[in-house]
Amino acid sequence: MKMKFNDYFETIPHLKTDRLILRAFCSDDIETYLRIIHDPQVQQFLGGGVSLFNKEPHISNWLNNVNGRLLKTKTVFTWCVELKRENKVIGRIDLGGFVKKSMAEISYYFSPEYWGMGFATEAVKEVTRFGFDDLRLHRMQAMVMSENIPSLKVLKKAGFTEEGVLKKYLFGKEFHDTVMLAVVREQNLN
Ligand SMILES: CC(C)(COP(=O)(O)OP(=O)(O)OC[C@H]1O[C@@H](n2cnc3c(N)ncnc32)[C@H](O)[C@@H]1OP(=O)(O)O)[C@@H](O)C(=O)NCCC(=O)NCCS
Repeated sequence: MKMKFNDYFETIPHLKTDRLILRAFCSDDIETYLRIIHDPQVQQFLGGGVSLFNKEPHISNWLNNVNGRLLKTKTVFTWCVELKRENKVIGRIDLGGFVKKSMAEISYYFSPEYWGMGFATEAVKEVTRFGFDDLRLHRMQAMVMSENIPSLKVLKKAGFTEEGVLKKYLFGKEFHDTVMLAVVREQNLN
């Protein structure tokens, strides 16, 4: 029998692509994850919106939240992105902000060491597939700072289209020109 929307929020769904595994974060991943997220190149277009921490008890709190509370409350799926061939954590991707079990928002952060190799696009395509085929969402969207050219490219390669620019909109903790992109599957509207 086909799973329903609510059934997917028991554990972080395990997803696979040709080169990547998308799975739950565990404590062994944290050192690499924190190195990625603290990198100024990664922070450049986030407007201070991604929480930075590097010590206990914040680490355990964060893990408990992403794998527990935020999942059980159907707030967000936070996946650790692992590169199969190196068994290495190379990024994070989220699908959250669910509205009426039908709309959601995607965001992602990858290690600069692995930029430009198509990994973000591969992960976004798989999460988009999961959103449409499994969760049966009708719309997925993403907000991107207008200067973040690589991220705009990722989303367009994954099938998203630009819907407009929100002038000096709240992005993270700051105000920036922000591009709204989305991909829609009308058949999933009921
Ligand atoms: C945006 C991001 C996820 C892209 O990751 P990635 O794995 O390099 O993405 P892909 O390789 O799938 O595609 C990136 C595209 O941008 C291009 N690109 C990569 N780095 C670039 C750079 N520094 N300047 C310009 N273009 C760049 C790539 O060549 C590629 O375009 P192409 O297919 O036309 O060659 C990554 O840069 C990142 O983690 N940035 C910091 C966090 C962030 O901004 N997240 C998005 C928030 S909305």
